[in-house]
Amino acid sequence: MSNVSRETLPAPGHRGRFVATQGSGNVSRETLPTPAPPRTLPALAAALPPGAGSADRLTAPDRREISPETSPYLDSPIARAAMSAVRDRAARAGLPRPRRPRVLVVANQKGGVGKTTTAVNLAAAWAAAGLRVLVVDLDPQGNASTALGVDRTVDLPSTYDVLVEGRPLREVVRSVPDVPRLTCAPATMDLAGAEIELVGRPERELQLRRALTAYGDGEASYDYAVLDCPPSLGLLTVNALSAAGEVLIPIQCEYYALEGVTALAASVERVRRALNPRLEISTVLLTMYDGRTRLAEQVAEEVRRHFGDRVLRTVVGRSVRIAEAPSYGQTVLTYDPRSRGAQAYIDAAREIALRGPSATFEEGDR
Ligand SMILES: Nc1ncnc2c1ncn2[C@@H]1O[C@H](COP(=O)(O)OP(=O)(O)OP(=O)(O)O)[C@@H](O)[C@H]1O
Ligand SMILES: [Mg+2]
Repeated sequence: MSNVSRETLPAPGHRGRFVATQGSGNVSRETLPTPAPPRTLPALAAALPPGAGSADRLTAPDRREISPETSPYLDSPIARAAMSAVRDRAARAGLPRPRRPRVLVVANQKGGVGKTTTAVNLAAAWAAAGLRVLVVDLDPQGNASTALGVDRTVDLPSTYDVLVEGRPLREVVRSVPDVPRLTCAPATMDLAGAEIELVGRPERELQLRRALTAYGDGEASYDYAVLDCPPSLGLLTVNALSAAGEVLIPIQCEYYALEGVTALAASVERVRRALNPRLEISTVLLTMYDGRTRLAEQVAEEVRRHFGDRVLRTVVGRSVRIAEAPSYGQTVLTYDPRSRGAQAYIDAAREIALRGPSATFEEGDR
């Protein structure tokens, strides 16, 4: 179900402002049949489940219930048009704001599995749904900053200054062009030296947590913070694990998909015991899934056996649009919002938001 109105969307590559969450949900005049007599409207209202008129109260199961099979009143052209308008409105009604800010670290020490792609596109999808989102780029490659169109010239303040110099995050965070409510703390090449510079410092693993806590307590707050990690389990990733409540592991549906995940799980466990008791692996996302191959299917089965219901139902398929978007300094949601890639990340963001943080996280001390 899309958050984005097809009628109002720009063409691929468009760089205008991204206004995806608001809209009337109207069905176009050409496609609407002659309005039904008013006496049919109460009947239609009665046929809809409780809360259906108020899109923000419409939950996923509610939407499934609205169908001609569940209500005889809905089996007419006007009713079908109204039903589709209600569904459309519900899809764009935004997502629930978490009771406490959720901090997700996107980690997998295997390279090129879709960490950065997942971080920036989930972030854009949450922002599009009306939430305030901060992306923290912890990879010296700076791919998340680039994909969000945020300047990462060496002498600009960056996550290096936050981690090594103790600079407040608010002096580093920048707005992402074209995506309201989305901000980014960029990474510059300096960050490559941060691991070495931090060694020997007291509380070297806790620098990001300190900065995020101060930032969250100030005026500049967020609903979701997404921490994009480099492909390693060094101090940068440990800083992210110490600052987060949840770990999201993207897994590429390829050979050796689970290679390294055991080491990541061991690191998570070590950080949980020593530094951050509420940390947990909450979410696994299958990426670059190619449904034509038996291999992708086998990998998906194996991952679901291993991680159970922590694996999102949404699977991100291979998509040319997803791969192209970063070279334009864009997320796939702004680059081609109608593409299957954009839809997959909208669905994944919705799934994560609707199922909420785990009980452990809710009881946590953030
Ligand atoms: N669903 C997808 N379909 C097609 N290409 C994709 C998809 N997801 C990611 N890619 C491409 O795969 C490459 C690796 O993705 P990405 O940079 O997100 O991985 P990463 O895990 O962050 O890599 P690194 O470990 O180097 O940080 C990129 O070129 C990206 O555009
Ligand atoms: Mg990356």
